[in-house]
Amino acid sequence: MSVSSNGHNLGNSKKTKKAMPKQTASSGLLKGRLAQGPHKALQMASVSVTFDKRLAPYDIQGSLAHARMLFEASLISRQEFDDISRGLKILDEKVSKEEFSYDSSLEDVHMNLEKALTDLIGQAGAKLHTARSRNDQVATDERLFLIDNLRIVENNLFDLRLALVNRAKKAGPLPMPGYTHLQRAQPVLVAHHLMAYYQMLTRDRERLLGLESRLKVMPLGSGALAGTGLPIKPRVTASLLGFTSLAPNSLDAVASRDLLMEFLSISAIMAVHLSRLAEDLILWCSQEFNFAALPDNLTTTSSMMPHKKNPDGAELIRGKAGRTIGNLVTLLTVVKGLPMSYNRDLQEDKEPLFDTIDTLNLILPLATAMIESIEFKEENLKKAADDPFMAATDLADHLVQKGVPFRLAHEQVGRLVVLALSKNIALRDLEDSLVLKYCPEAEPGLVKKLSLDNLLAKRDTTPGGTAPAVVSLRIKEALDELDGEKRAKS
Ligand code: ARG
Repeated sequence: MSVSSNGHNLGNSKKTKKAMPKQTASSGLLKGRLAQGPHKALQMASVSVTFDKRLAPYDIQGSLAHARMLFEASLISRQEFDDISRGLKILDEKVSKEEFSYDSSLEDVHMNLEKALTDLIGQAGAKLHTARSRNDQVATDERLFLIDNLRIVENNLFDLRLALVNRAKKAGPLPMPGYTHLQRAQPVLVAHHLMAYYQMLTRDRERLLGLESRLKVMPLGSGALAGTGLPIKPRVTASLLGFTSLAPNSLDAVASRDLLMEFLSISAIMAVHLSRLAEDLILWCSQEFNFAALPDNLTTTSSMMPHKKNPDGAELIRGKAGRTIGNLVTLLTVVKGLPMSYNRDLQEDKEPLFDTIDTLNLILPLATAMIESIEFKEENLKKAADDPFMAATDLADHLVQKGVPFRLAHEQVGRLVVLALSKNIALRDLEDSLVLKYCPEAEPGLVKKLSLDNLLAKRDTTPGGTAPAVVSLRIKEALDELDGEKRAKS
């Protein structure tokens, strides 16, 4: 018979029947070692059930699997297993109907559920914690919780990616100015601009999928830190819970939160992508750009200025991205100085995790609604895209094809631009004689041919170019990719 640190007998089921002390879970779960309950101030700081109750369904799922394993390993009897599973099912129903009443004096969700189970079914409930610590329990709950929630986030992300591709398809060959440094640079397609976000968000999805495979390693069996000497069968628990392997190091399993950090990091990156998209929408809807408008139901007005139509939704996306970065920094900071292995600081991992998930599930659908309904002002976009100075690079490229070294061509065209600006005329309206004076190798009549359509159509020399034909191909590929993902889901 082995004896745990607080003196409770944890032997096999027959022996424990006799040895089980009177004071069990129902009269106070952790009182053996300490003469007094916690100081009020400690108790208040200890409470996590106010937020970790969100783990309850996963805690119950984990406990059910753990109890079955204990039975299969002959650590509890058939009767005890039946009682535990009956009790846990009752608790699960209460939790899902929000009828379970949590007691802050019991610290966390794990103690609340264990106490409720023991109250419900008696002694068998007090056996559930055999060969388990809250340390491997909470690590397991968090993994189950995150695997489930990744799916919800991924579904919301899917909707946004689909909205972007559909909107890009609908925009067809509509051009717009492309920017660097927020200065007009070269014309691009609106579709190309939207598809840039599709690519970013598709990488975010890939990162989530990579994380999911790492989450499928089970911490349970690691005990408080060193595993357990009891003859458990962790593979049974793992297969019941959908884990694909067992943690190869018990210290790591209870001490590490890098997978949560990874999730918070992927999420912060995703939220930053959404924030940049939001910023583009805000600019496009400003009077200065005047490229697009959002529908009334996705804007707000001012409480004072009656003419205002503000893109608050986009601003909120941009603002909420800040908290996802904050959540990542919170967890990194909590973990950075911790000695091996579990430390109670780790209890602080949950609120940042929950907040980031909730934030993503708010801002992803909001971004989707905006992309689905944004109206582009085609005439304004075409006019802005046709800025004749944006043909300067193409003129330099033309000189390169005539044998002029690029640096020289760049200088010649730069001078020509200064001349055109001083005369306040467009590059393409310059007399041939002037063009030839600055760029002697230029073909006569060339500047007139630098039409917007030509500039765009030529950009088909890489798969990522903005030529309408190339962008259409990328849109088609993306739709096929999304279709494949959808079929894999169903
Ligand atoms: N509520 C705790 C947490 O989330 C559970 C683990 C408590 N473990 C301990 N050794 N006190 O971290």
